[in-house]
Amino acid sequence: MILDPTNLSILLIEHREEYRAVYGLNLIVYLDSKVTVVSTKNDVVKELKDKNQQYNLIFLDNDAYTGDMALDLYKLLSEKNLNIPFYVVGKTKLGLNADHVYKFDKSLELKYILGPMAEGLNITAKMMALKSHGPYFSMPIDFLIPGWQCSADLFISIGDAYKLMFKVGDIILNDELEFMTKSGIKHLFVDSTKRLKFVNSLTNEIFAKLNDPDLTKEDRVHVTAKGYQMVMEQARRLGITQTTLDIANECISSMKNIVEVFDNLNDLLAELIKEDGSYRYKHSLLCSYVGIHLLKKLSWGSKEEQDKFIFLCFFHDIALPRDDWARIHHDEDLKGSSLTDDEKEIISSHASAASKIISKVNKIPFGIDLIIKQHHGSKNGKGLSKISNEISPLAALFILAEEWTSYAIQSQENQEKLDKKKVIQKITIKYDFPVFKKLFPALHSLEL
Ligand SMILES: [Fe+2]
Ligand SMILES: [Fe+2]
Repeated sequence: MILDPTNLSILLIEHREEYRAVYGLNLIVYLDSKVTVVSTKNDVVKELKDKNQQYNLIFLDNDAYTGDMALDLYKLLSEKNLNIPFYVVGKTKLGLNADHVYKFDKSLELKYILGPMAEGLNITAKMMALKSHGPYFSMPIDFLIPGWQCSADLFISIGDAYKLMFKVGDIILNDELEFMTKSGIKHLFVDSTKRLKFVNSLTNEIFAKLNDPDLTKEDRVHVTAKGYQMVMEQARRLGITQTTLDIANECISSMKNIVEVFDNLNDLLAELIKEDGSYRYKHSLLCSYVGIHLLKKLSWGSKEEQDKFIFLCFFHDIALPRDDWARIHHDEDLKGSSLTDDEKEIISSHASAASKIISKVNKIPFGIDLIIKQHHGSKNGKGLSKISNEISPLAALFILAEEWTSYAIQSQENQEKLDKKKVIQKITIKYDFPVFKKLFPALHSLEL
């Protein structure tokens, strides 16, 4: 019997938000099916009990679970005498001879799994081509995660009309997603002819771009900016997941590359003027540039310390949800601002909050959470301008690099030339503490 794809129903078992998005959207777009996503074994039991709901296929990435979820679910399906085709990727003890089970290696690209699924469901390419979707294809908003960069225009439907919501190149922001969900918007629409392209690009766009050997140093600055924004958005809503960390690591090595290939700070600053929307990225990258060049002049500035420093620059303001908040560097400025008490508290303790976020991540540079906590000079990560003499030298170097960066950005915004002598003078007066003094000689070596 050939099934009408529009009536097909797939049960996707996945708890990781970004994988729900990748798998869910691919199943919807390639198999043209209704997809129900559940997270736990109990959810599956509930779904299978529902007599009104008949599933044509179950899909599970077994690596998402610590136990052998595939084996558990297979037992459950067998007990209930349910012959639903069960597609599993990742490691499982489930034997190859288990009925209705289709196992796939994790290293396989998703399209090689979707192909056999379509075949199993009797969906042919011809059927898909013949099926008319109308001008727009709908995607559940739940499958969009913050930080994704649109590769096709996305619309919302208002009555009979479609209004452009995100255009090509836009990064989907958390606030916007939350606002739409609160307003009752459940679907976004994409031009039907572009739906495959859109979904394909979601998963690999940033990786592909950053690994392109032909990328110019100028383009690298802007591609890395997108990656940075993706990480910040995803980290805020989802915490730092493996995927987020993968993108972050790509960005960090890209920043390392930028720091090496730009001959001086002014060239980098001139390129960064095009990134006017992202202060946090701009100051993280400039800070890396200044800090790494200072580190190279210091006896303890090993490769390991340099790597640690870029990681610090990348993640230090991760707990700040807004760009303009990253500009506030003094407790007095914070006090005098018109922000609410809650907002002031977020800003005042963002170093401590960032440290907590990072400490939960596996495989981070040794001691980096402590240094992130100290990035405004206090030992406990509270306050913006209380300097302790007991902070780590790398945190002290960061503070000087960030100070230099602030002057550099300021001078660019005021269209003035940065005066190196004046910058050094201001820094040495402001940071007249033992922990900084040892670093002062390196300041003169920086190329503007
Ligand atoms: Fe900062
Ligand atoms: Fe900060």
